[in-house]
Amino acid sequence: MKGLDIGESREEYLMNVSEWTKHKGVQKWVTQMIQMCEPDDIHFCDGSQEEYEAACQTLVDSGTFIRLNLEKRPGSYYCRSDPSDVARVEDRTFICSKKEEDAGPTNNWEEPKKMKATLKTLFTGCMKGRKMYVIPFSMGPFGSSLAEIGIQVTDSPYVVVNMYIMTRMGKKALEALGDSGEFIPCLHSVGVPLEKGQKDVLWPCREDAKYIVHFPEERAIWSFGSGYGGNALLGKKCFALRIASVKARDENWMSEHMLIVGVTNPEGKKRYFVAAFPSACGKTNLAMLKSELPGWKVECVGDDIAWMRLGKDGRLYAINPEYGFFGVAPGTSFQSNPNAMASIAKNTIFTNVALTDDGDVWWEGMTDEAPAHLTDWKGNSWTPDSKVKAAHPNSRFTAPARQCPVMDPVFDDPKGVPISGIIFGGRRGSVVPLVTESLSWDHGTFFGTALSSEMTAAAAGTVGKLRHDPFAMLPFCGYNMGDYFGHWLEMGQLIKPEYRPKIFQVNWFLKSKEGKFLWPGFGENMRVLKWMFERCEGLDNAEKTPVGYLPKKGAIDFSGLDLEDEDKLFEIDHEAWESEVEGLREYYTMFGSRLPRGITDELNALEKRLG
Ligand code: GTP
Ligand code: SPV
Ligand code: MN
Repeated sequence: MKGLDIGESREEYLMNVSEWTKHKGVQKWVTQMIQMCEPDDIHFCDGSQEEYEAACQTLVDSGTFIRLNLEKRPGSYYCRSDPSDVARVEDRTFICSKKEEDAGPTNNWEEPKKMKATLKTLFTGCMKGRKMYVIPFSMGPFGSSLAEIGIQVTDSPYVVVNMYIMTRMGKKALEALGDSGEFIPCLHSVGVPLEKGQKDVLWPCREDAKYIVHFPEERAIWSFGSGYGGNALLGKKCFALRIASVKARDENWMSEHMLIVGVTNPEGKKRYFVAAFPSACGKTNLAMLKSELPGWKVECVGDDIAWMRLGKDGRLYAINPEYGFFGVAPGTSFQSNPNAMASIAKNTIFTNVALTDDGDVWWEGMTDEAPAHLTDWKGNSWTPDSKVKAAHPNSRFTAPARQCPVMDPVFDDPKGVPISGIIFGGRRGSVVPLVTESLSWDHGTFFGTALSSEMTAAAAGTVGKLRHDPFAMLPFCGYNMGDYFGHWLEMGQLIKPEYRPKIFQVNWFLKSKEGKFLWPGFGENMRVLKWMFERCEGLDNAEKTPVGYLPKKGAIDFSGLDLEDEDKLFEIDHEAWESEVEGLREYYTMFGSRLPRGITDELNALEKRLG
């Protein structure tokens, strides 16, 4: 493998590490991690393609990866996780701030010293018999004032190859860090040391001990016992949201669970939108939407995370800190999301989908008819008569962003893109209309605080259960959620009034009494985007209602759609809204004195408008 390997002795290691970086802080931290974890071997990643391929080969050799059919899916790999390690584990995720109230009522908390002691016991010797990989990575384009550097050490080659796709990693990130720059140390282990000569399992993880831990004041991440997605690719949710949200609060910027899209109208005018939907609620789909409206175009900047800062001009600019997509496979098809299908045509890692007999992949919703025979995500033989799903509902693809045919050319632009509109959305079978515009920034912030959604398979828990998920950040906010609400209100004041983005709320998931979706969604969401775009242009195409501005009759073009009940899409059920208000009032009590006055004011105002 290219890059630097540890060498035979400790002296050789120390020489290697100082050859690798002159950054004393990195040298010291990596050395400490080696001393604690006691790996047999170390590899410093340079981020080269050769290195990526070698790590994939390691995974193929161990049986963890299966190389997919070279004609059907070139450069791609298939992987099954342990059945107990398939999603984020929110009940094992901790924000260990010095004070419990700074983690707030929505996060798990433990005293940092106590947690460190527990973790040190677990991490001591945890990499025996394994290789430690040291991964320098940049979240955000090189040279961007919005980018941040992390160093992840991990004993999982699966993490290495996923980080290669998902972040800008290797030598260039180390150069960007320089000799004294700030970095976020990210420690990860699957937590399964190997005895001499002991054969490894295909997906090592710890069913008995998982800890996804954040130390916000120290700005450090320690993750133990899981190899999966958001638990293990520490640049993503742990760094780019939980730790970054703390930095953002302190430094007056925003770190959000949001996609970023550019929308161009037939006259060639382009506007950028960001949208926060909870996990598995449609970000990747909206980010790559294929417009069915003549003349209208959508381009993708990001599909999961947005970092937004004020420009000198007082406008809000967003970058996508990531470099790839870690997307939900089920439901992805040439009908629903052709651009995602093109993005995953090659050089993609598939985790927990089903394997076809000719060495390709399949999942529920990919085609109308399932193949006659498959091997399911657990490795069992599967036919359409099988009682179980062939792919896990949270099965994922990892694909390079540059493979998306509608990637916006400015995706790599250090400056970021100016934001015109902010969208919130959840999975709600009723109550919340297809689209609403807020009456003001503060009212829009209230939309964010009021977001609820039916739970999905992206996290361990009860699928379908309605839960409050403010700003789609419930599992990702690194500090007290009440303070986070306040940060949003403050940011609104910092943005120059003429540039203050409009804030919208959408709901693609309204259902009929029979449980059928009332809105076709996917590409047809373009019609709603168009209305939002036109609102930003100042078009008089909305009417004021108690819950916000709704489209005037005819303002959204529904021609050609076979809608079962158009009126239902915009219905405001006063009784249901009153109980929504009641529910929110109760929900907010958990934030106590940390709930900003501005949010209570918005709730009271809504109640009054409802009459
Ligand atoms: P994370 O990666 O977990 O953050 O998810 P995400 O928000 O990017 O969700 P994604 O776009 O992957 O969609 C998740 C699921 O929602 C998929 O099964 C989609 O098929 C489905 N979905 C997405 N958009 C729509 C829509 O407009 N209507 C309906 N009915 N379903 C949708
Ligand atoms: C999510 O759950 O919101 C994801 C997948 O985007 S993970 O990387 O596991 O967080
Ligand atoms: Mn997500």
